Amino acid sequence: MTASSFRIFGHRGARAHAPENTLLGLETGIRLGADWLEFDVHQHPDGELVLLHDASVDRTTNGHGPLDELGWAELRALDAGHGERIPTLAEALQCIDQRAGVNVELKSFGGAGAALAAELQRAIDTGWPVERFLVSSFHLPELREFKRLAPSIPIGALVGGVPLDWAACAVQLGAASLNVDAEFADARLVADAHAHGVRVYAYTVNDVPEMRRLQALGVDGVFTDYPERRPN
Ligand code: G3P
Ligand code: MG
Repeated sequence: MTASSFRIFGHRGARAHAPENTLLGLETGIRLGADWLEFDVHQHPDGELVLLHDASVDRTTNGHGPLDELGWAELRALDAGHGERIPTLAEALQCIDQRAGVNVELKSFGGAGAALAAELQRAIDTGWPVERFLVSSFHLPELREFKRLAPSIPIGALVGGVPLDWAACAVQLGAASLNVDAEFADARLVADAHAHGVRVYAYTVNDVPEMRRLQALGVDGVFTDYPERRPN
């Protein structure tokens, strides 16, 4: 792996520098040189996809309550930090405008994959290269449903530990990557993924020596709150 092919994902935009999952966060990630931006997406009951990590707005905004219980206008009036609003996925894509690759982490399940497939297809129809998208989720059945609906869009299987059958879940899903908790970036897991043509990205890595350790293990990139940091 060359230094330049090691992929840096700005985590939730550039979480250490700007409010997470906001347009300001995405702009900051791009300014700091992120090759790719990762952000989290939930589906509002009205159907819209919005950038939000938690199922409630309490931690990241001046509002309270679960997303599912907030009206659309109420949600959009919230301050997500520094006067930023909770953006829609469409607004995020418009803001990024192909200046970085986009990893949408789907947090909702139970049908949200269909709305996501439709939104990304709209972007592809207006010129986004399909390989500049990566859709990931911890909810692997939802990810499989997304892949069924949008087979050409690359997906990444998120795992919080080392699966019993190593990289098999990613292979079975036809995933381009296995996105693992850095703590569990085991050499055998990396080797198994690579043997099947699956890349391995590790989250969330804010420390340069840790980036170097993971790169030496063969990991292909990291999610970081500090997208200006590099292993070398
Ligand atoms: O997608 C990588 C990472 O963002 C997964 O964990 O909780 O930060 O969304 P979380
Ligand atoms: Mg995430």
